[in-house]
Amino acid sequence: MKRTLVNIVMMIFAVDKVSPSASWNLTTLPVSFGKDIILWCSMGEKKESKFSKQGTDLRQWTGGQQYDLLCMDNKCLNPSKYEMLTRNNSQSFGLLIHNLSESDLDCQYTCSCGFSDFTKNLSVEPKHVMSLPANETSTTYGKNINNGKMEIEIMLEKVNPVPVCSALFKGQFINETTVTVMKWYKYYNDVKVIDSFAVNGVDCEGRLQILCNFVYRNVTIFDEYIDICQEEEASMLTMTLLFIGFLGCVIILSICIWLTKKRKDRFGERCWTNEKKTQVEKINVNQVQLLSEKYQQEKETSTMMKI
Ligand SMILES: *[C@@H]1O[C@H](CO)[C@@H](O)[C@H](O)[C@H]1NC(C)=O
Ligand SMILES: *[C@@H]1O[C@H](CO)[C@@H](O)[C@H](O)[C@H]1NC(C)=O
Ligand SMILES: *[C@@H]1O[C@H](CO)[C@@H](O)[C@H](O)[C@H]1NC(C)=O
Repeated sequence: MKRTLVNIVMMIFAVDKVSPSASWNLTTLPVSFGKDIILWCSMGEKKESKFSKQGTDLRQWTGGQQYDLLCMDNKCLNPSKYEMLTRNNSQSFGLLIHNLSESDLDCQYTCSCGFSDFTKNLSVEPKHVMSLPANETSTTYGKNINNGKMEIEIMLEKVNPVPVCSALFKGQFINETTVTVMKWYKYYNDVKVIDSFAVNGVDCEGRLQILCNFVYRNVTIFDEYIDICQEEEASMLTMTLLFIGFLGCVIILSICIWLTKKRKDRFGERCWTNEKKTQVEKINVNQVQLLSEKYQQEKETSTMMKI
């Protein structure tokens, strides 16, 4: 009873003095979720209230989703989440919020000191939110080579702002990548970064990097030594082998046809069965067959000689 009476009396006197201009501001921009932010409360008017000396006024923070008392007189109810910051010889004080999450935003916070208080909605413009790609594992990417073109696709989840990315090969700028927003959230986006460039025969290996500019930071989202020469060589090799196999078949077939024409009456039948075999086994021409044919040929010519 006594206390309320005193309070009422104090309030009457308080109305008397110049209305105090307390106000708080978010002083840490850009903000990042999971990081700390600071709200700083300034007591604009240096005029002291008649009933309280500087530094003896009770300072407190109220707010959050439930609009509860957070800190009072340098003590916080949830010290792992909030901390009160004070400065010597200054009536201003701050609130440190650890591990910022979306639920800390868009609700009211009040700082008060003595009779002055100030309440405001804590809101952050999306452009002042910095959300960088977490790490390599959170980005999924695909790589493929097509018609001498290399295409790299990288998904970045929950990033902000939408980055501008460019590709560097051997430290040299090649091109700017395509960045497409796949999904919008309030404070961040899922984006897809696609880089496509032509690989010529000479420069088929080297360090490829993709750098993204997130306004406040530059982040390398891809950094690999690529060697497409091997893949080119491998495809060349298979092509060559196939060609040799094909050539072998053609030669054998023409030999058979030639032989058939020469010895239509006597050896025709045998050669036709041989040809059937080669058709079935086309690519797996083995040398034994070739040798036996040669042998046969020699034998045949010798018999013909005898005749
Ligand atoms: C930060 O807050 C999130 C939820 O908002 C929680 O999952 C995470 O464990 C917190 N991290 C730390 C270091 O307290
Ligand atoms: C704070 O602002 C957000 C959007 O700016 C709004 O949705 C919310 O209702 C506001 N909260 C209060 C308590 O005014
Ligand atoms: C990011 O890189 C660009 C050029 O590559 C440079 O102009 C810019 O200053 C860099 N930004 C930051 C924040 O480092």
